[in-house]
Amino acid sequence: MNNVVTTNGLTKHYGRIRAVNDLTFGIPEKSVFGILGPNGSGKTTTLGMLLDVVNPTSGTYSWFSNLSRKENRQKIGSILETPSFYPYLSAIDNLRIIAEIKAIGYENIGEVLKLTGLYERRLSAYRTYSLGMKQRLALASALLCDPLVMILDEPTNGLDPRGIAEIRELIRTIARQGKTIILASHLLDEVQKVCSHFAVLDKGRLMYSGLVNEVSHEELRLEISADDPAELFALLKTFPGQRKVEFSGETIIITLPGHVAIGDLSRFVFEHGIVITHLLALRKSLESQFLEILNEKA
Ligand SMILES: Nc1ncnc2c1ncn2[C@@H]1O[C@H](COP(=O)(O)OP(=O)(O)O)[C@@H](O)[C@H]1O
Ligand SMILES: [Mg+2]
Repeated sequence: MNNVVTTNGLTKHYGRIRAVNDLTFGIPEKSVFGILGPNGSGKTTTLGMLLDVVNPTSGTYSWFSNLSRKENRQKIGSILETPSFYPYLSAIDNLRIIAEIKAIGYENIGEVLKLTGLYERRLSAYRTYSLGMKQRLALASALLCDPLVMILDEPTNGLDPRGIAEIRELIRTIARQGKTIILASHLLDEVQKVCSHFAVLDKGRLMYSGLVNEVSHEELRLEISADDPAELFALLKTFPGQRKVEFSGETIIITLPGHVAIGDLSRFVFEHGIVITHLLALRKSLESQFLEILNEKA
């Protein structure tokens, strides 16, 4: 698969602060790529460099292989900061002004308003919008030029749970249209819920880069019970490939490699004459894995 952008040793220092340090990675076409890291880890600075608004101290990046800077910019929609809309103008008038500034026609306005769920309210003044609607209008304005790539910095910050859910759903909808999305977030569950790929940044350094699913499935933990827990415990200890078997009260927790099928385990237990009375897959959270990634390389 092609990358929409690749970086090579991308670095930004502010005086003695190493905001971004030697980042080398690629963002696959049509992925929803999460840049995950705690506050101050260099996410916004990285996006700023990719958008040409922050000058790298060293290192390089390249978009879509061979196009010119100007051609590239037209293929990228972004919300790095909330755009300033006119409070007393309607959504549609605000988008017309943005279309003028970007020197593009009005023909996409209706479509982006529908996509972002604002069409019914297109004639209402911006100041009457909820925070979630304001953020959706920001997405609508970034979508106006029908970009191939959308860059979003903490798109759900400050929103209530319903607004957060709406924005996440909208991001998934935009991704289904075949656009590549690059999303910076300090929220693990956000990355887990909307991203296909992710990179972890800590203190400006790249700690990890890979598929969200791969990480989530590296390990499988099952909660399992039978009438005779001691007998079950002894049997599970002999299950091929088991990483850990432990008691949690009366139930037993077994840790297995992510590729093991749950059916194989239950068949194994059954064939040894034990009837399972309770079986529950506990998915190891991305959170604990994220903390492990940070700790391993700290
Ligand atoms: N314009 C700037 N001048 C000085 N330091 C900056 C500037 N922008 C960011 N930094 C510093 O660079 C580091 C990374 O910041 P940032 O990229 O905003 O992180 P994040 O978006 O992950 O929260 C922080 O230590 C921040 O204080
Ligand atoms: Mg930031």
